[in-house]
Amino acid sequence: MILRTEIADILRDPRIGAEITVMGWVRAFRSNRFIALNDGSGAQNFQVVVPDKYQEDPALEPVFRKIGFHACIKATGKLVESQGAGQSVELQADTIEILGENKLDIYPLQPKKQTMEFLRENAHFRMRTSTFSSVFRIRHAVAYAIHKYYNDRGFYYMHSPIITGSDAEGAGEMFRVTTLDVDNPPRTPDGAVNWKEDFFGKSTNLTVSGQLQGEIAALAIGKVYTFGPTFRAENSNTSRHLAEFWMIEPEVAFFDIENNMNLAEDFVKFLINHVLDNYPDDLQLLDQRIKDEEKSLPQDKRRPMGLIEMLRFVVENDFARVSYTEAVNILRSSNHFKKGKFEFEPVWGSDLQAEHERFLVEKEFKRPVIVRNYPKSIKAFYMRENDPGTDGAPELTVAAMDVLFPYIGEVIGGSQREERHERLVARIHEMGIPEEELWWYLQLRQFGGAPHAGFGLGFERMVQFITGMGNIRDVIPFPRTPKNAEF
Ligand code: 4AD
Ligand code: MG
Repeated sequence: MILRTEIADILRDPRIGAEITVMGWVRAFRSNRFIALNDGSGAQNFQVVVPDKYQEDPALEPVFRKIGFHACIKATGKLVESQGAGQSVELQADTIEILGENKLDIYPLQPKKQTMEFLRENAHFRMRTSTFSSVFRIRHAVAYAIHKYYNDRGFYYMHSPIITGSDAEGAGEMFRVTTLDVDNPPRTPDGAVNWKEDFFGKSTNLTVSGQLQGEIAALAIGKVYTFGPTFRAENSNTSRHLAEFWMIEPEVAFFDIENNMNLAEDFVKFLINHVLDNYPDDLQLLDQRIKDEEKSLPQDKRRPMGLIEMLRFVVENDFARVSYTEAVNILRSSNHFKKGKFEFEPVWGSDLQAEHERFLVEKEFKRPVIVRNYPKSIKAFYMRENDPGTDGAPELTVAAMDVLFPYIGEVIGGSQREERHERLVARIHEMGIPEEELWWYLQLRQFGGAPHAGFGLGFERMVQFITGMGNIRDVIPFPRTPKNAEF
């Protein structure tokens, strides 16, 4: 059995004089004497002092030569108070063993600053850097906090299917799942591919959302949430889009849009607080990383607040809430628009562009914003139709809500659901969705239906906001994006 002490435990409760063994990867080796060791248990490195005998004794010298960047070592010795600045305790090593030599001359990473793009191409090693170690510890922390939040409030975790026959968002951005021979698929007499002969006896795809199945559960056990991978074949090469991402979708019976907005705000604040309270070292490191990076930028290109300051600001202030109609009015009467600074004109009836969302959050309200009641014509079929004239809108709206964050834009999209059977049937006909595909979804409205609402939080966008990472590809271990499915 292997016995070792974890670095985080040593630093949390240092027992001076204790004989200990540590194992980890060398983050840095200074002056042929000081190893900065990290075993993943926390953001802080642990200093191991290499005794002189490793340089002087010919029998030990081969070990000494192998102590280098990202080599994996085992060190045993006594825990002492540190003489040097920068750490309070250190290991006065007696023996050092190389567990995994690192062939530095051919190792892809080097002990210097490397670009995010380069590290992405070396995703099998990027987690060994301090930045990515912190990002992935925080990713874990957010996932844990999500389950804690809902569990503590009586929600049930619902596993929605990954393979489905329906397109929940109706946007047609799905990955097909098939076992048919793509070169020679079975065909119907009129020449079309015969999906009846496919594995499931119908055409199937990877899910874009677990919402529709979440609604089934909410209308039986009241308060549920899904938390799983979702897939979108949208060809968006942006810093906020992935083809495979994780979504959290609470769905609640006896909830309207107002309840839904309150839940969304409380929920994301809880997630941020959890990380602020439990991962201060990782946040500190990521905060410093951004400050260092921004040093070379002109003042107006820097973030208005440091990372930790921004997280505190978000949890301490109420989110702004506006209707879509008000939002469009704000955008149209802004100087920004009048000076022609928007690429896309904000007009009632078209979706808010990323630049509009960022203007509302970063310039107008200077805090997160929840926009509600969007035009019916641009939203999904399942959203509840509002009474005509709601918010003074010129056309019909639906009880949709998006939560917009600084830098990221939309982190949450959700709505109250259309629980009125006739309206829902009329809507899917209007949108050309075949009724047979959604027979079960429609029956929920005929047999013991209830007002209900829910939303989807983009997990990676949330992690992106909390870690301050500029690109969503850097907060998921192995990003899937157009033309990229390595690792
Ligand atoms: O707004 P969306 O499309 O909403 C739904 O899927 C609903 N069914 C949710 C619900 O009401 N239960 O997606 C929800 C969130 C977005 O706000 C965004 O944060 C994230 O999912 N998201 C993506 N994240 C990364 N890459 C993509 N391609 C994303 N598309 C959406
Ligand atoms: Mg959306």
